Amino acid sequence: MGLGVGLSVLTASRHDPAAQAITAAMVGNEKGLPDLRSFAKNCDVVTFDHEHVPQEHLKALEADGHIIRPGSHALLHAQDKSVMRSRLEAMGIPGPRHRIVTDPADVAAFAAEVHANRGNVVLKTTRGGYDGKGVWLIDADTSAAVLAEPFEAGVPVLAEERVDHVRELSALIARSPYGQAVAYPIVESVQRDGICMEVVAPAPGLAPQLASQAQRIALSVAAGLDVVGVLAVELFETPDGRVVVNELAMRPHNTGHWTIDGAVTSQFENHLRAVLDLPLGSPAARAPYTVMVNILGGNLPDTYPAYRHVMARDPSLKVHWYGKDVRPGRKVGHVTAYGDDLVDLRERAWHAADYIRGDVEW
Ligand SMILES: Nc1ncnc2c1ncn2[C@@H]1O[C@H](COP(=O)(O)OP(=O)(O)OP(=O)(O)O)[C@@H](O)[C@H]1O
Ligand SMILES: [Mg+2]
Repeated sequence: MGLGVGLSVLTASRHDPAAQAITAAMVGNEKGLPDLRSFAKNCDVVTFDHEHVPQEHLKALEADGHIIRPGSHALLHAQDKSVMRSRLEAMGIPGPRHRIVTDPADVAAFAAEVHANRGNVVLKTTRGGYDGKGVWLIDADTSAAVLAEPFEAGVPVLAEERVDHVRELSALIARSPYGQAVAYPIVESVQRDGICMEVVAPAPGLAPQLASQAQRIALSVAAGLDVVGVLAVELFETPDGRVVVNELAMRPHNTGHWTIDGAVTSQFENHLRAVLDLPLGSPAARAPYTVMVNILGGNLPDTYPAYRHVMARDPSLKVHWYGKDVRPGRKVGHVTAYGDDLVDLRERAWHAADYIRGDVEW
């Protein structure tokens, strides 16, 4: 991305997308301290593209004198949803009522405490979830077997009241150790079955004061938790015009992929600038609207003809292909369209994603 910075990556497989892009990849176990130590000794700064490196290993690397950004004390809030909820509540940031629950009977007790019936509760494993894995929306029809599932992994389970919302938003910022921060426009993210499908930047029709409030929340969370790098704050917009925090991510985030083509400085570049304590780049959008749609694996035996077709059909579309094995439902790439006609941008981006998935034929 033109910064002239040497990058290396510790990755589980030579075939991982990051290893395909960065030739100086070390294949190893990013959850094991010996490999983390031998990787870190050749780095000036270590950062992440996911939050699953165990907290105790990060602390050990910090004790060795390595520079880890964001630091383990900040990252903890993206690793553990219960710690995050308690800390944000203490900071006065709006979130749902919540507590750790121990079994299905305790879920019913929680529902009664928040004056809700079972239809209003969301259960989450506190650690290790992603793309809706580790999240259960509980309603009156939920069977006893499903209600027992969250407790099976042996990881503490967090219960939250279900937040009534009109849509989901995301506030993306980058913050440097120096304390400089930049805020990207607030985007709308469309989720299906717990997976982010589409992002529209900026969120259409969002009241300007709500957009500023969402940006202020993200900036104060970043300052309060001492986040360095990119922070994504996933939010709910409520029917009465408030924003409520869902969760935090401290790394380049799916709701920021639009910035690669749609912003002056991408989230990836600003993440690197931030962790290197360089001045940050402008987060301004390049066009009135940018639409990003994720490409999920479908049932096409060979995606290559479809990949070529969408490029030929729409030369203004930007196609990003991650080089992963294609499996149904797995995120294997994304497309971005930018311009001023939102209806047209959405149609084109969705067409490409649906085509590669094998859902449309022309
Ligand atoms: N308290 C809640 N009220 C209403 N809906 C919720 C609540 N918590 C989660 N959801 C829904 O479930 C989705 C997934 O939840 P969450 O973001 O916590 O899980 P995740 O699997 O960690 O997601 P990610 O892939 O973003 O890491 C949310 O995007 C939202 O649609
Ligand atoms: Mg989420």
